[in-house]
Amino acid sequence: MKKIILTGDRPTGKLHLGHYVGSLANRIKLQDEYEQYIMIADIQALTDNFENPSKIVDNLYEVALDYLSIGIEPQKSTIFIQSHIPELAELTVYYLNLVTLGRLERNPTVKTEIQQKGYDSSIPAGFFCYPVSQAADITAFKAEAVPVGDDQVPMIEQTNEIVRRFNRIYNTDCLKEAKPVLSKTPRLVGIDGQSKASKSLGNAIFLSDTPEEIKRKVFLMFTDPTHLKISDPGRVEGNVVFDYLDAFHSDPEEVTSLKAQYRKGGLGDSTIKNLLNTTLQTMLEPIKEKRNNFKRGEVMDILISGTATAKKMAEKTLEEVRDAIGLRYFD
Ligand code: TRP
Repeated sequence: MKKIILTGDRPTGKLHLGHYVGSLANRIKLQDEYEQYIMIADIQALTDNFENPSKIVDNLYEVALDYLSIGIEPQKSTIFIQSHIPELAELTVYYLNLVTLGRLERNPTVKTEIQQKGYDSSIPAGFFCYPVSQAADITAFKAEAVPVGDDQVPMIEQTNEIVRRFNRIYNTDCLKEAKPVLSKTPRLVGIDGQSKASKSLGNAIFLSDTPEEIKRKVFLMFTDPTHLKISDPGRVEGNVVFDYLDAFHSDPEEVTSLKAQYRKGGLGDSTIKNLLNTTLQTMLEPIKEKRNNFKRGEVMDILISGTATAKKMAEKTLEEVRDAIGLRYFD
């Protein structure tokens, strides 16, 4: 039997090149070896967008379309919607008994998010507890591996603590521990060179950007501000164009020789930007073409059938979980 993996994304916006190198590219490969579940985490996205649900509702379809257009195949990967599997919410409630507020407070990713969102004095309880709901997502599918970015590692540690506690307290082995699968490519920097590519910072190139938008963003990229004349020596470190060529150009040797030339002087920014533009356009064109060929009804059918498959799996785990606790009265 194939091993199970589960991953997910919050549908708060379309997916971008940062998602692609961080995890999406991995998923395209992993779907051949593993039984892969990909969850659109709308409940988790609500924890910090509950006042603006239309943002999530509107983006859910776009994220599904992003998956399909990059080559996630519904025959190999089950794509499903979190909110339509109520078993996940039930499992979260059982798990909430097994974690303390102190433990939740120590989660470094949540800590950073609380600061970024300015929640310091009044943290919504749903948001504070989302790692527990994430533990439910992972364990309901008995996932052994979770392909994610490194900021998600604390969630998997917390999941495994819950698994051990549950199995010990209820004297069972029905829950399984999971391991993170990290991508080899480090996180992608934004076009401004300031921080990681992110939708909210407006510094990302989206998989669905038009050719004109891609070109515009490439030509806005931060390079070396002291590299004024083509003949000047330039810096490669911190130069966003080279970071992207490293991540996306198919010939690493060519990139190495361009870097040497740039350092020495004699290579202009517009030359490397044109090369990157061509590289990205070539890579994204078939993705966009695939995107345009999907019909809304087709995407919805994939989500309906994926969600039905995923629900059966979660129902089965929930039977085992209720049995382990002893919640069986009528038979
Ligand atoms: N927290 C993840 C993110 O922000 C999304 C997510 C929700 C997830 N549930 C998950 C990822 C389960 C992996 C496994 O991107």
